[in-house]
Amino acid sequence: MTSPLQKNIIQIALNKLTQLGLLTLLFLTSLPGHAQNNAQPEEEKMQWFQDAKLGIFIHWGLYAVKGIDESWSFFNGYISHNDYLKQTNGFTAKNYDPVAWADLIKKSGARYSVITSKHHDGFALWDSKFGDFNAKKASAAKRDVLSPFVNALRKEGLKVGIYYSLPDWSYQDYTHHTRDSMRYKPADDPKRWNTFLNYYQGQLKELSKTYNPDLWWFDGDWEHSSAEWEAPKVRQMLLDRNPGTIINSRLQGHGDYATPEQGMPVTRPKDNYWELCMTMNNSWGYQKNDHDYKSLDQLIGIFTDVISSGGNLLLDIGPKGDGSIPKEQEELLTGLGRWTQKHKEAIFDTSAGIPKEHFYGPTTLSKDKSILYLFVKGNPKGEIVLRGIKNKINRIWVVGDGTKLSHKVVGKIYWSHYPGIKYIQVPDYVLDENMTVLAVLLDGKIDLYREDGSVIESN
Ligand code: GLC
Repeated sequence: MTSPLQKNIIQIALNKLTQLGLLTLLFLTSLPGHAQNNAQPEEEKMQWFQDAKLGIFIHWGLYAVKGIDESWSFFNGYISHNDYLKQTNGFTAKNYDPVAWADLIKKSGARYSVITSKHHDGFALWDSKFGDFNAKKASAAKRDVLSPFVNALRKEGLKVGIYYSLPDWSYQDYTHHTRDSMRYKPADDPKRWNTFLNYYQGQLKELSKTYNPDLWWFDGDWEHSSAEWEAPKVRQMLLDRNPGTIINSRLQGHGDYATPEQGMPVTRPKDNYWELCMTMNNSWGYQKNDHDYKSLDQLIGIFTDVISSGGNLLLDIGPKGDGSIPKEQEELLTGLGRWTQKHKEAIFDTSAGIPKEHFYGPTTLSKDKSILYLFVKGNPKGEIVLRGIKNKINRIWVVGDGTKLSHKVVGKIYWSHYPGIKYIQVPDYVLDENMTVLAVLLDGKIDLYREDGSVIESN
């Protein structure tokens, strides 16, 4: 029996424990990286992004007029800041057709697009209330060129990503101007830095309210620390407005996914969510002298490598100052679109494929892991090889073509669980002009043989 006094002590202890529990919970939820109260659970929030596979990056700004490096050309001293700014006169947007842009992006198979609302040069594509250096007030276009594109994307059912450069090298109260001239350091003039913080955070609030972006693509965070940018506060502000919004990694550790740039990861990245951003030629913005385009086959090869490793490809285009999209870029997107449309079941809403030892090429898996998709480059001249698949194969077909293929299992020993080697016959007439895709329907969830092999004990 417990006495009333004992009961009282137990009650107090329980109350304390509950309080402590609540405190711990409060502490845990305030840790960086933990889903905030107003944010959606990570997996739910990231779902569309993970299923999307392909996004189109757009670098459009003053630099397209002369066809020089975006912002970096004056920062690195290849042109004076003054001459760089003169490009505002050539930024006419007179052939700009946002509906056609969105249509082309949709046709490429992409499910989202990320556009440079403002690059490091500080030139804004929308009519910002913060400062005058924008398409409406400071360029020959004399109008907001961002809103019509965002509207067109939404009409096509595409997700909207806003690229925003944290650095603003033209803004008088920002720290950096060019590589050789820094205006000041935040610690030396906190008041001036605060003026900049209000300006950039004001722009973000404005963009957030006007466009409700599905995704934020920050850039240039390397110039200041998380504390200097007030990164956690900025993240919170954006999530308060749009709890489902996704933020890329370039916010000094306060983003949702990794953004390797240009270099295709050779081994599978450890991050759950990642996106390779890449140019079609060697430039982000339009450069009339850069004809060094990747071929469609190369782009498809890179794309399939990316999705095979569980990532997305954010493929860049650079429209001209008049708003037209260069022919080569349009052709590549159209070619990509033919291929993605034909093979959509193997691309979208799939997950990363199997380790390369089992198939010497890119692969993906259906969500329930019972269909293995094989990306076959070139002409295998006969058969392709699958190693260490323990499942029985129920059916194989050529994606987007329907032809059924036969296979043969070699080296299966009846008393061992070693699954043997599976050979699939691929006739010439089913080959795709860019890359052929095969669907292998298994008798259940894929089961891989990952052992070293064993001694044959009886013959
Ligand atoms: C780099 C460059 C920038 C480009 C970006 C795209 O961070 O500073 O010019 O826009 O990469 O990923």
